[in-house]
Amino acid sequence: YNSLSSKTSELIMKQVRANPQLLICTATGGTPSGAYQELSQHSTELFSEARFIKLDEWGGIPMDDPGSCELYLQDKLIKPLAIDKERYYSLNSQTDDAESECRRIQSFLDKNGPIALCILGLGLNGHLGFNEPADELRPFCHVAQLTQTSLSHPMIVNHEIDIRYGLSLGMANILTSQHIFLLVNGEHKIDIFNTLLSQSITTQCPASFLWTHPNVTCILDESVAPATWPDGLEIDYA
Ligand code: PGA
Repeated sequence: YNSLSSKTSELIMKQVRANPQLLICTATGGTPSGAYQELSQHSTELFSEARFIKLDEWGGIPMDDPGSCELYLQDKLIKPLAIDKERYYSLNSQTDDAESECRRIQSFLDKNGPIALCILGLGLNGHLGFNEPADELRPFCHVAQLTQTSLSHPMIVNHEIDIRYGLSLGMANILTSQHIFLLVNGEHKIDIFNTLLSQSITTQCPASFLWTHPNVTCILDESVAPATWPDGLEIDYA
């Protein structure tokens, strides 16, 4: 996990050096924490022009709730890297009108997108953000119906607020990113990672759509690596 985190933070910094004003989409959850922690140790100078957008949020919980994606990102990335509020775009979790909040963020992306670098974790059920396994997926920022798997995520499991929906960037928002990093860590992700490696593209595993993208870097720890890889992938054991 430590090497995954260092490698990821190195690769993020490389992208920022090449394009200081880039728009970075940031996932939350256990997987990217270490990478964000490493980034936060570096000089804020490197990030003085970078812009960030939050991938998703739990609906209805306060923005300063310990389970919110907002507090996670504020603590791990936005404050340590001194990102001012003009450079951070964030779905508001506590709104009376979640649909219009999603339209607000979508309209930001329409004007300021596409995302240059999208940092993603892999959901246990194959979700990306709150693009959950379903018969149909949504292209743009939307209010998402959450699966039981997502509602059992450690960030909010046993939360006293009854979380009923999520807010999430959509599949097209993700898939039009110039570069995508998919981080996968831990033995509990082996099954879903193998499903992904089967290269079967299905709405029942939203992450499988990453196979349609020309520029995805998947960074994983040893425990998830399969004995053999599908043909055509560039593998780096660094
Ligand atoms: P995790 O979450 O990084 O905590 O495993 C990933 C996800 O559910 O999207």
